[in-house]
Amino acid sequence: MSQRSYFVTGAMGCIGAWTLYHLVRRGERVVSYDISADRSRLDLLLTEAEQVGVTFVRGDLTCREQVQEAMQRYGASHVIHLAALQVPFCRANPVLGAQVNVVGTLNVFEAAREAGIRHVVYASSIAVYGPPQIYPDGLIAHDAPLSPDTLYGGFKQCNEQNARVYFTDYGVSSTALRPYVVYGVGRDQGMTSDPTKAMLAAAAGEDYHIGFGGVSQLQFASDVAQQFIEAADHPLQGAHVFNLGGEPVDMQVVADAIRAAAPGVNITFEPKALPFPMGFDDAQLRQHMGRVYETPLSDGIQQTVEWFRTCLAEGRLRYPV
Ligand SMILES: NC(=O)c1ccc[n+]([C@@H]2O[C@H](COP(=O)([O-])OP(=O)(O)OC[C@H]3O[C@@H](n4cnc5c(N)ncnc54)[C@H](O)[C@@H]3O)[C@@H](O)[C@H]2O)c1
Repeated sequence: MSQRSYFVTGAMGCIGAWTLYHLVRRGERVVSYDISADRSRLDLLLTEAEQVGVTFVRGDLTCREQVQEAMQRYGASHVIHLAALQVPFCRANPVLGAQVNVVGTLNVFEAAREAGIRHVVYASSIAVYGPPQIYPDGLIAHDAPLSPDTLYGGFKQCNEQNARVYFTDYGVSSTALRPYVVYGVGRDQGMTSDPTKAMLAAAAGEDYHIGFGGVSQLQFASDVAQQFIEAADHPLQGAHVFNLGGEPVDMQVVADAIRAAAPGVNITFEPKALPFPMGFDDAQLRQHMGRVYETPLSDGIQQTVEWFRTCLAEGRLRYPV
């Protein structure tokens, strides 16, 4: 086993569970830091025996001392900060949203600085951009103006700005990744979780109506997690922010791919598109990262439906949930 130690916040969430999955399979030392002790997403990916080597710390990101203590006690060398409250939770409780998403992120940077860790990887979001009307057609350039119209997007933009200052003032470098619509086992909450919910329904042999349509970029949770790990393994000097890319796809293509993975089910969707442009340019990611993970959509959907089927058959998941 290597001496590296990955400190993963939000590890009980979807992308966090996948991050643990890949790190554990690589034999890495992992510290999970999450306010929740609910391992239900992780249990879909790793057996109890596989989780034995993980150090689980139950802690609140909004408490600076708790984050510092955990990072120092377990000798973190790599930090992957994923914990956050998603759009609907920030909308329902704006102050808590800011405490978790902004202050919590500052606490992670601060704890890293105090522990002498020179690089932090963290999750931003394409929600830092504005509505499609303010941009030209086509993929949105990396440096297009940011104009978030959700509190969540504003908090993520604030984190990106704070990360720049952490580099200039304290020399702590960072790499942020901005996912769009993440899908895969474990994606069960947030405004864009419906395609995955449709995959679960399909695995159970049930029809599903997805609450949005239009064209967007879908990213496989397993790929997204590996991209975060890649970013942690190859620390860049400076404060970097990368869009995750992928081919923009119409929801009809997604529905067809789910139907192909589960013939006989009916997957429909609302025509209304998400309030974001259809896709974001990932040229910067490709330029800076040694490897870009991009499982083809039909393969990712097929794998997800099959994984769900196995979980349902083994009683690790129920449908309806
Ligand atoms: N899922 C997507 O489509 C998507 C898209 C863009 C950006 N992101 C970002 O990626 C990251 C991971 O997303 P996800 O889908 O895995 O999220 P998730 O909602 O599944 O998980 C978030 C985790 O953060 C934890 N958390 C919340 N408050 C906390 C606190 N105060 N202290 C410690 N832990 C706390 C939760 O318990 C949960 O386990 C987030 O930062 C999210 O904003 C996700």
